[in-house]
Amino acid sequence: MTLGVAAALTALRGRDYLSSADCSTDETTALIGLAQQLKSGERRIDLGNRVLGLIFSKASTRTRVSFQVAMAHLGGQTVDLHPSVTQLGRGEPLEDTARVLSRYCDVLAVRTFAQQEIVDYAFWSDVPVINALTDLEHPCQALADFMTMKEEHGELSGHTLAYVGDGNNVAHSLMLCGALLGVNIKIACPQGFEPLNGILEQARKIAPEGTSVDVTNDPFEAVKGAQAVYTDVWASMGQEEEQQQRAAAFAEFCVNQTLLNQAASDAIVLHCLPAHRGEEISAEVMEGPQSRIFDQAENRLHVQQALLAAVMGGL
Ligand code: CP
Ligand code: NVA
Repeated sequence: MTLGVAAALTALRGRDYLSSADCSTDETTALIGLAQQLKSGERRIDLGNRVLGLIFSKASTRTRVSFQVAMAHLGGQTVDLHPSVTQLGRGEPLEDTARVLSRYCDVLAVRTFAQQEIVDYAFWSDVPVINALTDLEHPCQALADFMTMKEEHGELSGHTLAYVGDGNNVAHSLMLCGALLGVNIKIACPQGFEPLNGILEQARKIAPEGTSVDVTNDPFEAVKGAQAVYTDVWASMGQEEEQQQRAAAFAEFCVNQTLLNQAASDAIVLHCLPAHRGEEISAEVMEGPQSRIFDQAENRLHVQQALLAAVMGGL
């Protein structure tokens, strides 16, 4: 590890990770680098007896399990604090819950609806709070996504990731994290489903000169020449009732072989999962030779471990 990388990781000690934009370019790059070292076995970290509290108000397979396994690999433990089994579910205020839990736990990972809720957790908690997905962002996911792109192509800067689908939490974090890393981001959404303007402006502001963040309503335009083609569900958690109406609006936004053929010949296909084959992605593309979707899912574990180690100061 160079001094610069070590310093970038050390700077994360005690910090929250509520948004992809909470880390600098150097810190984001260092986290991905550490995750790669942990994956290859070049680096092992034992934090010894630290405890992660998981406060998840939404379903999760990958995020929950990768956090739990990451803590186990770091020599620590996880306590699952689903609101239905804590007093939170009976109306205990967040500010009391956060203060109490941070007396027991060394770090908290929160999955919820409103971004403001994790901002409040971070305010009231004395230990680092990690965004494990909100309606606004999914920053841990974006770290794994760019790690997967880096594994494939070596370089990130100057490459292009095309995201086809809903301008949602996953799209927002890809825009911000991609901008930090110098990856050109092209988002293709149906009209009315574009990412938030505020996030677009923020991503453009943090992008280095020469890196673009663009939104279009044409999936073919977005995918043309891209090194990675990414999609996510059309209806996110909490939007189940809109499923049918969204399916009609997104009909032309399926990542299928015809669309993928517009990308660079060595382009990889990414999806944060869970996926709906035949909706946002065809089964052929999902299982095809360009898919790195399951490597991407594995990488959640490695970036989670890197992030936990960094914010708990175990380096
Ligand atoms: N990609 C992702 O966050 O998956 P889970 O909802 O299963 O955690
Ligand atoms: N956009 C999806 C991502 C799931 C990991 C959702 O919020 O449900």
